[in-house]
Amino acid sequence: MGAQQVRDGFTELYGAVPEGVWSAPGRVNLIGEHTDYNDGFVMPFALPHTTVAAVSRRTDGVLRLHSADVEGGVVELRADELAPESDRNWTAYPAGVVWALREAGHPVTGADVHLASTVPSGAGLSSSAALEVVIALALNDLFELDLQRWQLARLCQRAENVYVGAPTGIMDQTASACCEEGHALFLDTRDLSQQQIPFDLAAEGMRLLVVDTRVKHAHSDGEYGKRRAGCERGAALLGVDALRDIPYDGLDAALARLGDDEEAVRLVRHIVTEDERVERTVGLLKAGETRAIGPVLVAGHASLRDDFRISCPELDLVVDTALASGALGARMTGGGFGGSAIVLVEAADVDTVTKAVQEAFAGADFTAPRVFEAVPSAGARRLS
Ligand code: GLA
Repeated sequence: MGAQQVRDGFTELYGAVPEGVWSAPGRVNLIGEHTDYNDGFVMPFALPHTTVAAVSRRTDGVLRLHSADVEGGVVELRADELAPESDRNWTAYPAGVVWALREAGHPVTGADVHLASTVPSGAGLSSSAALEVVIALALNDLFELDLQRWQLARLCQRAENVYVGAPTGIMDQTASACCEEGHALFLDTRDLSQQQIPFDLAAEGMRLLVVDTRVKHAHSDGEYGKRRAGCERGAALLGVDALRDIPYDGLDAALARLGDDEEAVRLVRHIVTEDERVERTVGLLKAGETRAIGPVLVAGHASLRDDFRISCPELDLVVDTALASGALGARMTGGGFGGSAIVLVEAADVDTVTKAVQEAFAGADFTAPRVFEAVPSAGARRLS
């Protein structure tokens, strides 16, 4: 979606040109799943798919929201009447950001907003975070709030946790706000310290495919929250603030302490080994051994499937088929229970692997998946 188109849409809708146009991307996570609410490590990168917003300030407390992608016209709200968990529609995300900014004491006195997005929704590619971050960045600029990217990400997470009511971690919002073109973001979710890790697969003759299984994931069904609560219970049983505090070489001792608490053993084992896989991936990429991350991705999938138990038949079929047809690595990405998988392939094998996955889906009578190549792209920015 071009900036000009969204700018024109705004002008047509509100009868004046917008003060500016901003964009924020969706993301895929290379490795580090469900570690973010355990204070652990993640490694997402931004997609070329973005949410674009044309925005102007208002001073009368009115918030007008419109999306080119949703039927139903302009939604008008009052900034001082926004209340957590009062809205079950898409407008909860942008309104939640306004609420979070105001609650933190920032003088956001209303806005006119027109949006359009190319981030697939419900595909585990962070369309919600893109929507939150584009609004936060626009309001930060327009109201001269001087907040840093990581602060905007925190406020967006608060909007999602408290206003929308989804207990997600900080990965998606930070990815959308902070990623850089050609890089994956190595993020420590405890203190939000970051390293941009060069990740240019094309230069090394490889590609990363995203396979959207079209199985709609939803955090609202409570499974995400259950995993989160289970991890917190595991940390409490082990006497640590967060599972990140269990070192990899202390895992066996920790599991022994959990005894026959089978659920805690599975969840703790996933988180501690997943943090180690992120660190191993960073080390391999820094050493230029990119192909060697393939088996790490595969081990991550097995852990999410068997220990964390958040995969589904469609995601497993992508991974198994891709590996059987020559992929270097594959795993589910994002929250789980549907959504997307990623597949690392040699450039020469893209067609073979894509065809094999499509045929396997047809053979299993699953909805045809959407397959596209993911190139590490820019984070949120002002377009005009
Ligand atoms: C969702 C959440 C993130 C993270 C992932 C799993 O995308 O929004 O915070 O927990 O799931 O890694």
